[in-house]
Amino acid sequence: MGQKVFYVTTPIYYPSDRLHIGHALTTTMADTLARYKRMRGYDVFFLTGSDEHGQKIQRKAREAGLEPQAYVDRIVATFKELWRRLDISYDDFIRTTEERHKKVVQELFRRIYEKGDIYKSQYEGWYCTPCETFFTERQLKDGNCPDCGRPVELVKEESYFFRMSKYADRLLKYIEEHPEFIQPPSRRNEMINFIKGGLEDLCISRTTFDWGIPVPIDPKHVIYVWFDALTNYISALGYGTDDESLFKKFWPAAVHLVGKDIVRFHTVIWPTILMSAGIELPKKVFGHGWLLVEGGKMSKSKGNVVDPMLLIDRYGSDAIRYFLLREMPYGADGYYSEEALIQRYNSDLANDYGNLLNRTVAMIEKFCDGVIPEPSEENELDRELKGVAERVPEEVEQALENFEFARALSSIWQLIGRANKYIEETAPWALAREPEKRPRLNTVLYNLAESIRQATVLCSPFMPGVPPRVWEQLGIQDDAHIHTWDSLKTWGGIPPGRRVKRGAPLFPRIEAGKEEDNVAETVQVDAGQRKEEITIEEFSRLELKVAEVIAAERVPQTDKLLKLEVNLGTERRTVVAGVAQHYRPEDLVGKKVVMVANLKPAKLRGIVSQGMVLAAVEGDKLTLIVPEGDVSPGAQVR
Ligand code: MSP
Repeated sequence: MGQKVFYVTTPIYYPSDRLHIGHALTTTMADTLARYKRMRGYDVFFLTGSDEHGQKIQRKAREAGLEPQAYVDRIVATFKELWRRLDISYDDFIRTTEERHKKVVQELFRRIYEKGDIYKSQYEGWYCTPCETFFTERQLKDGNCPDCGRPVELVKEESYFFRMSKYADRLLKYIEEHPEFIQPPSRRNEMINFIKGGLEDLCISRTTFDWGIPVPIDPKHVIYVWFDALTNYISALGYGTDDESLFKKFWPAAVHLVGKDIVRFHTVIWPTILMSAGIELPKKVFGHGWLLVEGGKMSKSKGNVVDPMLLIDRYGSDAIRYFLLREMPYGADGYYSEEALIQRYNSDLANDYGNLLNRTVAMIEKFCDGVIPEPSEENELDRELKGVAERVPEEVEQALENFEFARALSSIWQLIGRANKYIEETAPWALAREPEKRPRLNTVLYNLAESIRQATVLCSPFMPGVPPRVWEQLGIQDDAHIHTWDSLKTWGGIPPGRRVKRGAPLFPRIEAGKEEDNVAETVQVDAGQRKEEITIEEFSRLELKVAEVIAAERVPQTDKLLKLEVNLGTERRTVVAGVAQHYRPEDLVGKKVVMVANLKPAKLRGIVSQGMVLAAVEGDKLTLIVPEGDVSPGAQVR
């Protein structure tokens, strides 16, 4: 047998806007699986990308005053930056505007056409532009789009059709014979019912816009976005090209991870296209639930879109990954709130895990001169702790095979919890007072270090930034063989004698300001987006003033915040500004800046901020706006 392979994909995201925390969920799940499988010795191919064609994107680009390509280039750069910050270890990023992709889509079209499964006819249907989806009259809900509720347009045009109906029976049979194909089972039942309702042929070309891949035999048509998009899963592997080595190695995909709203495209349209082309079907499609926020689904118009980049800035990538994976119930919807995030962070990460490491290292320093001691005879308590450590890896493995991320983490936390309880039960500080109990003390401290090692190995696919920091503190950074999944099989991997080194807390506790203030700050502000027009009266409601910075200092335990004292001419104010990564406190004292003086005060990290300082923002760069000439503090800006 050759090497075990594992091909995992995320949906390719629309570059119509920046990504939000819901998108980060799917990609984090995929990354965790990819990292886990790599640790298990698989040859992994992890694909993500962007879905760049279609009418909606063309329209968005026009609104932004840009050519479509320039528009998507700009947004795709923000996707890649987000994945970098979130430690996403993809092997390839496919863009549907790349030549390598377009060629394969056209080739696939050609093959299916030559087989006789594509024909030309007259299309009449209801089109929802925001959803990029056509509906039959029957599917509409009160005459509107059944998915988003917005108005639809009647479209009539000459189009190419794919004979999807021809494959309905075969597909149904396939799904019934392969219970693992669609997961979780509830979605499988939904799809079975959908297919039993009958499949129509699928319209796969458009002539009403041109931002798409031309139909190879009739270039006034462009290929329907879903035909184009789904093909990414094989175009990235070079299907139909001179070099099919990746395709031969990795196809069929082990799993396509998708949100529940696009399960149908992946379990009906995609398989029937593949059947027609004589290509094997992906082994699994997993449809996870939605991540909801207060007010339901995130949307620009509701103003409740949560920006993952800001959350990463504030809490770090590992904590965000942990929250997403821990909080989503299997197959169902989950909820995001910053309060819940802080709660999880403080209880699971700071208290349970971080403190366990911290206390253990401190005790080894204090009682053993910083050297991990040699264990000796074991008693019942030790055996119990080891028992938990023995069963947890298998539970995590099973949970991950089933995409039950939350269950996997809660299982790891049983080990962490057991180790914390073990400290209370064994009371090392009491043992340390009695010299004849030294061997017992050594055993206890060794077992604690070893529990942390095992829990940390288990955490590595979920929070890849954590293990190196733990290895460093335990003094085992050079012992690569005990960082592996295989090393979980044996208790006692740590060689006694390693020297621990206390470091910064893994997850410093967060003393939360008021939750609503935090939320307001992490809601996405889209730099590329044009806002609606306002009147001069509306503008005049803003009180903009020149303020002189009198004092500035860092807000403790944050990377981004400075606390400023400013002189507004007639009064002094305190303002918290997110500029610490761009200005040192001493650079700001004496500077005159522009501030919004009538902004409702907000509490940030326990400090009441009485205004907001204005700055120009370009990508990661931030530059304060300062008056060009000499003006007095308090001068009005208009
Ligand atoms: N471009 C298509 C996918 C083509 S795949 C061949 C698309 N793009 S999308 O950007 O709109 O959405 C991508 C994924 O993000 C979908 O799986 C969708 O379910 C997921 N999510 C979008 N918002 C989400 C949440 N609030 N929560 C969880 N997932 C969410 O669809």
